[in-house]
Amino acid sequence: MQIQIISLFPEMFEGVLNSSMLFKAKDRGIVGYHLINLRDFGKGIRHQVDDTPYGGGDGMLLMIEPLVKAIESAKERDPGALVILPTPRGELYSQSAANDLAENAKGLILVCPRYEGYDERIVNWVDRQYCIGRYVLTGGELPAMVIIDSIVRLLPGVLGGEHSTEIESFQGSEDRIEFPQYTRPEIYQGLKVPQVLLSGNHKEIEEWRVQNSGRLS
Ligand code: ADE
Repeated sequence: MQIQIISLFPEMFEGVLNSSMLFKAKDRGIVGYHLINLRDFGKGIRHQVDDTPYGGGDGMLLMIEPLVKAIESAKERDPGALVILPTPRGELYSQSAANDLAENAKGLILVCPRYEGYDERIVNWVDRQYCIGRYVLTGGELPAMVIIDSIVRLLPGVLGGEHSTEIESFQGSEDRIEFPQYTRPEIYQGLKVPQVLLSGNHKEIEEWRVQNSGRLS
């Protein structure tokens, strides 16, 4: 899966995409990342990407032309890719959306807005709009990283265990929370690991895990 990112701050992605599982996924040839600087598609000698909003108001908006040009250049590289716009106006992002994208998307183009927003007409070039939570961030880069991370870890061959993603929180049901887990030492500052987990009795351990899997209220 090719993942392209359109941003005014592509350097923000370097650490995230070059660490841990996202790096391993690239290293194993499961994904490729391509960073696109929106500034390269800006207007005139100053590569302008933003302008004041019609109707007045604070701040600047990303103009439609640089955004469309950047999306079209990404589409040339990967015509089948799905264009995703992180925005507080979008559908609330969820595990089921991540599952769907991991399974069905051939490639992704993430468009990261900045400043006070973007010219709304850009939605005509976008396939999905996602909000990652009911709070406002300074730009689309962090939401794009969240979306990328949630998808890449689901791609076959990225996580270690065959079934690593099947038993975890939110899988199967949006309000499911995985059971708590413990590792050595058995006692830390008087805090003990539940006895049943040390018993070696697999049936009892399974029952305990079912009982201690939670549901969001
Ligand atoms: N941009 C700013 N805040 C956002 C959010 N919560 N989700 C997606 N994009 C955003």
